[in-house]
Parts: sequence; C-alpha cells; structure tokens
Amino acid sequence: MGRIAHVVGARPNFMKAAPVVRALAALGVDQELVHTGQHYDERLSGVFFTELGLPEPTVNLGVGSGSHAQQTAAAMLALERTFDELEPAVVIVYGDVNSTLAAALVAAKAHVPIAHVEAGLRSFDPTMPEEVNRRLTDSMSDLLFTTSPEAVGNLADEGVPVDRIHFVGNPMIDTLLDYIPRVDPNAGATIAGIEPPYGVVTLHRPANVDDLERAQRIVRGLDAASATLPLIVPLHPRGDLSLRHAGLVDGDRLRIIPPLGYLDFLALMASASVVITDSGGIQEESTVLGVPCRTVRPNTERPITVTWGTNALIEPEQIGSAVAAICSNGAAASRPAPPLWDGQAGERIAGILRAYVEDGAAEVAPPPVPVETQTAPSSA
Ligand code: UD1
Repeated sequence: MGRIAHVVGARPNFMKAAPVVRALAALGVDQELVHTGQHYDERLSGVFFTELGLPEPTVNLGVGSGSHAQQTAAAMLALERTFDELEPAVVIVYGDVNSTLAAALVAAKAHVPIAHVEAGLRSFDPTMPEEVNRRLTDSMSDLLFTTSPEAVGNLADEGVPVDRIHFVGNPMIDTLLDYIPRVDPNAGATIAGIEPPYGVVTLHRPANVDDLERAQRIVRGLDAASATLPLIVPLHPRGDLSLRHAGLVDGDRLRIIPPLGYLDFLALMASASVVITDSGGIQEESTVLGVPCRTVRPNTERPITVTWGTNALIEPEQIGSAVAAICSNGAAASRPAPPLWDGQAGERIAGILRAYVEDGAAEVAPPPVPVETQTAPSSA
C-alpha cells in the first residue's frame, strides 16, 4: 500500500489535518507530514503541533513570508524535491492557503494524485487570494472532500465528476468537539483579565487590515462596540501593525493580546457573547459553539454558517449596533449542527483514502447524505 503525504503550512491547516492524521494512523496507513513553514512563529505554528498532538513533521521546508509569488514559488521548489524523495501515492492538502496551492501544482505535474480537504468552498470573490487557491486546487484534485452540500453543488456546477466528490463533514469540527470538554471556563480572566460577558475579535484578511481607510472604519466600529461590551482582540501579526496604525489602542474595554494557541482561543471563544471576525474557520467554530458571529466581510465561502449557524455578514459601520443588538437579545436559541459536523470527518476521509491507495483510482462509494441536508433551518 502506498504512502500518503500531508502538506500543511499555515495555522488553519493544523486543526484540519490532526483528525485525518490520527484516523489514518489507526488504520495503519503509512504517512508523512510535510510542513512548508509558511507560518513559522511558535504562536502561529509550533503551539498547534504540541496541543493537537500532531507528529513532528518529516520535514519543515522553511518557506516563510514573502509576496504571494515568492511564497508559492519557494514552496513549490522545496516540495518538488520532497515529493521526489518521499514518492507519495497521494498528496493530501488542506484549505486554501498558499502552501495548499503550491503542493497541488507540484503534485499535479509529478502525476501524484491529490486529495483536497475542504474542497468546493466559494466566496465568488476573485480578489481574495484564498479564492484563487481554492479554485485552482480543486481543478487539479482527484479526491475532493467537502464539508457542506453547497460545496458539492459548487463543484458539480464547475463540472467536477461526481465520483471524485466526497461529502465527509468537517474535520476542523472533529478537533473542536474533541477539545471543547478540556477548555478552561475562566479563560477570559486568565488570558486577558476580563470576566464574561465579553466579545472576541479576530481580523487579519488583507482586504480589512492592509487597506488603511477600511482598517480605520473597522477600528471606529470596534471602539463603538466596546462601549457596550468589553472586547478581547488577539492580533495576528498581519493585522498588528496596520490596525494599530489605523488607531486601535489597547485599553480596559478593548484588550489587545498576542495571537493565542488553539486551546486558549477555543476557551476564549466558548465563553464569549459574540465573535467579530473575518476568519473562515471561526465562522464555522462559532456555529457549533452557538456563539453569535458577525463577519466583517461582504461575502463568505461558508454560507452554511449563515443558514444553519449563528453567523451574519456586516459592514464595519454595523459592528457597534450588531454587538448592542446581540447583548440586548440575550442568548441565541440552540440549533442543530450542520450535517455531518459530528466529529467523524477524519475517519470518513481516512477510510476513503485507504481504499484509494489500496486500489489505485478505485471506485470509492461516497457516504450517504443524511436526509436533513435537504432542508436547512430558517436563519435567525
Ligand atoms: C495566511 C493565509 C490565510 C489564513 C491565515 C491564517 C494565504 C494566502 N493566506 O494568511 O488564508 O487565514 O494564514 O493565519 O495563504 N507572519 C509572522 N509569523 C508567521 C507567519 C506570518 O509574523 O509565522 C507575518 C509576516 O509578516 C507575513 C504576514 O504575517 O508577511 C502574513 O503571513 P502570510 O503567511 O503571508 O499570510 P497570512 O496573512 O498569515
């Protein structure tokens, strides 16, 4: 049976890969973990390996930061050598970061089959670097693992053969369900010195933080919101300089802290009254936690978090009023999790991958789609 090479590179990859690595290990499948080194800080990378129990990567390619072309090209050069040495039967890539696209391009040209976890998400916004990465990665993939029925529909609309598409659920939610019983219920106080009620804010998208005028609008929105509810803001390095330059100031009701590890962030979010974000993963995690989420973006590649979850899209000017409305409305009614967000996605992916490497491009039956995917509950 051939060997599987996972390629991870940036923070949001690690919690998606962990359950797949674990499930493949339980099946006795030979696997290697390749880290491109796109994220290299202890706080964006190392702490996740420790907390999530990921094995030490076979190799860290040390790609680091740079322009999109520099980062993608550096990853491609190093991955080409790595795939030559490892001779994987399948390369598995995660999400939509530059490392994902780089690995898919190299594997496609080396004629190595590609499995893409979190395939089919579309914001339909070509200005997002992640949207470019998603579309191109999917177009080269042989096994497309999706987290939602909408993603299946997007791939079908693009002409992807249906036998390549596998609706398996959400491995990032596997990780969340695994870790949530272990988190510190007093995280707000221990991490930021703030007791509930509080809100959590994360912002790092280029469209929000690299543009001074928009960053200033967001900072005004956060200032307005913090008059109603204290806010805790773990700042990604990308947004740190620019948001501070746009006027974000640390204070008693708006606490700026460094980026957090997985467990600390999950704990903070689980006890929050609201999350203000532009992250994709946090839209999904807040949906499962039942914490109201307001996404400061004009679009989302994860519409299921709006139809099934707690998410809504807002403009920077609406941050203050959105937080005030959530505070006065009290707790949201609990809802069922989206279909197959049940903690078993890693096992489903591993089973399909094992059948694939055992039989080559075998006919792998997709898991049945539960009946409730036909109708989503109405949104709040
Ligand atoms: C990347 C992903 C994004 C994901 C995010 C999560 C792409 C195109 N973007 O964005 O989809 O949501 O990761 O964090 O792949 N930096 C550090 N330390 C690090 C890594 C980066 O300080 O370990 C700083 C550098 O100044 C760097 C900047 O952050 O220039 C941006 O890093 P980069 O990997 O290019 O993109 P992210 O904004 O992190």
